[in-house]
Amino acid sequence: MSVETKPVFKPNREFSKNARIKNMCEYQDLQDWATEDYEGYWGHFAKEKLTWMKPFTNVMDNQNFPFVNWFEGGKLNVAVQCIDRHLESRKNKAAIIFEGDRGDKKIITYLELYYNVNQFANLLKNDFGVKKGDRVVIYMPMIPEAAYAMLACARIGAIHSVVFGGFSAEALKDRIEDAEAKVVITADGAFRKDKPYMLKPVVDEALKGNTPVQKVLVVERNGEDVTWVAGRDYSYNELIKNQKVTCEAEEMDAEDPLFLLYTSGSTGKPKGVQHNSAGYILWAQMTMEWVFDVKENDTYWCTADVGWITGHTYIVYGPLAMGATTVMFEGVPTYPDAGRPWKMVEEYKINQFYTAPTAIRVLHKTGENEPAKYDLSSLKVLGTVGEPIDPPAWKWYYEAVGGSKCAIVDTYWQTETGGHIVSPLPGATPIKPACATLPLPGIMGEILDPETGRKVGAGESGYMCVTRPWPSMIRGVWGDKDRFVKSYFGDVKKDGKPVYFTGDGANYDADGYITITGRTDDVINVSGHRMGTAEVEAAIKKHPNVAEVAVVGKPHEIKGEGIFAYVVLKADDGIADELEEMKAINKVIQKEIGNIALCDDILFAPGLPKTRSGKIMRRILRAIAKGEAITQDISTLEDPSVVAKIEAMAKK
Ligand code: PRX
Repeated sequence: MSVETKPVFKPNREFSKNARIKNMCEYQDLQDWATEDYEGYWGHFAKEKLTWMKPFTNVMDNQNFPFVNWFEGGKLNVAVQCIDRHLESRKNKAAIIFEGDRGDKKIITYLELYYNVNQFANLLKNDFGVKKGDRVVIYMPMIPEAAYAMLACARIGAIHSVVFGGFSAEALKDRIEDAEAKVVITADGAFRKDKPYMLKPVVDEALKGNTPVQKVLVVERNGEDVTWVAGRDYSYNELIKNQKVTCEAEEMDAEDPLFLLYTSGSTGKPKGVQHNSAGYILWAQMTMEWVFDVKENDTYWCTADVGWITGHTYIVYGPLAMGATTVMFEGVPTYPDAGRPWKMVEEYKINQFYTAPTAIRVLHKTGENEPAKYDLSSLKVLGTVGEPIDPPAWKWYYEAVGGSKCAIVDTYWQTETGGHIVSPLPGATPIKPACATLPLPGIMGEILDPETGRKVGAGESGYMCVTRPWPSMIRGVWGDKDRFVKSYFGDVKKDGKPVYFTGDGANYDADGYITITGRTDDVINVSGHRMGTAEVEAAIKKHPNVAEVAVVGKPHEIKGEGIFAYVVLKADDGIADELEEMKAINKVIQKEIGNIALCDDILFAPGLPKTRSGKIMRRILRAIAKGEAITQDISTLEDPSVVAKIEAMAKK
């Protein structure tokens, strides 16, 4: 099979000289060390990088795989790792630089962060009665208080579950109930494109009826009027004034849970991905240091939202664990114009910039020449995450933003992996456009043939797997052990033993470089946001006129993938107004999930292509959505004629 060769860009020599990993020999040495002495390797870094209250006695207990314990016997606190340990050498260093939508700015030093988090922790502990192991849902805009809330939970041993602010009341309610959260931390709202938007009313809606939530803490950010429920809702701005600025950090077991983060899978119900303390924070810190190579005086900016794993690991935990300066931005990258990010890069002298391909495509399309208007010379490393990046967007990012001198780290990972697993190292790895390159040192990442478990050859497609457990691996699906095992360890075996399967397809090129080709399951990636087709279908089915529905992904110029729904309506007397019906369906989605799951296309089909056993043939629907010819045999379908009918309708 011919293997595509892509142009290669060598690391910038000057950069490599001072990089933490300087060349491929150093990379290989680390990878060999991990291969030969896996526990020695991880034990070494856990001792070197983490501040332990009590040292661990055993690196890894794998007897109960896939339930793995790391750093047994060790005690630590993630908030101490992220804050307290920096006070001696960095107390006046900026920990967080915040820029609001309207351009308001705030710099929070490590000492201030320490006080703010301690006060927040005292509030939760003393006023709200939050204890170790309690679940706290955080439904917040991109303001520093979101980071304080996460770290305050970590400090007192509460398990936080951040829910992205774009999720609807229904979606928030489901997550609150699944986690049995006792407290919700939110804000009145925030600002977007110079206008206030609201979050508190969504929380009010989510808490209607029976709820495990006893108390709601509201950060007053935009000052808009909100409803206060007596005995339940409290103003953060008021309560925080009375809190002491010191709060002892809870001694946490290495494997005590740190957070839950709900993500989409192949069923209608999102999974509460659980990450535990020591392993997660270790890899968050190590990847920050290696992949972004942030130096003491650098300023690092990741544009993600704290509601996603990227915001957890690469805005809050990773940067703070290594003592870096992390930028938090409330606004949208194209407001007031598509020069906003570049203006911020110039102003804050950003050294590492990390964003998603969707944002790069939007900035490219709407502001191709904007980067040239600003001084971007401070940039050293550019990152991308969340979805495959297409070569034209990559080229523009490399040339127009990076001035052809910055490494682009195409970081491949997922909610479940806690941190990057396949990525270039900016001082070492020769990069190729739109290619995640090689597994990071210590990660046993391999592309396997799902049938045989054999490592695939160059040019062959296979499943992206990790063949040994690693410290920041998902520890469980909240409340559902079976789902954890089945979702990740059921599909691929190597040498007869189950291995972690990411859900993504991938291939190697002739140099052994990995290119991720996308999900192999029913998960679609809309603007880098993971959406389960089953989740969207479950929402659409709530519309009273809908009899059947099938949802697939369709390539989208900006979003990467868009959502295409085939809907069969109950009434067979025709549709009165197609546009109105479409709006009504999207309205249900908005209510059940949120705007991020709105359909780009809805086709009212006379029926769905099903096998005689009733299985919907999504491959056919995917091909029709893409406008591709149907090549597979459809004669075995229950009603083959439906395919031609749908095809004709799609062409209209
Ligand atoms: O399909 C892969 C894609 O995003 C999925 C993970 O989504 P989520 O858990 O929401 O986390 C997103 C941020 C890490 C993966 O299964 N993905 C992530 N990074 C890349 C990617 N696809 C291609 N290239 C990447 N660099």
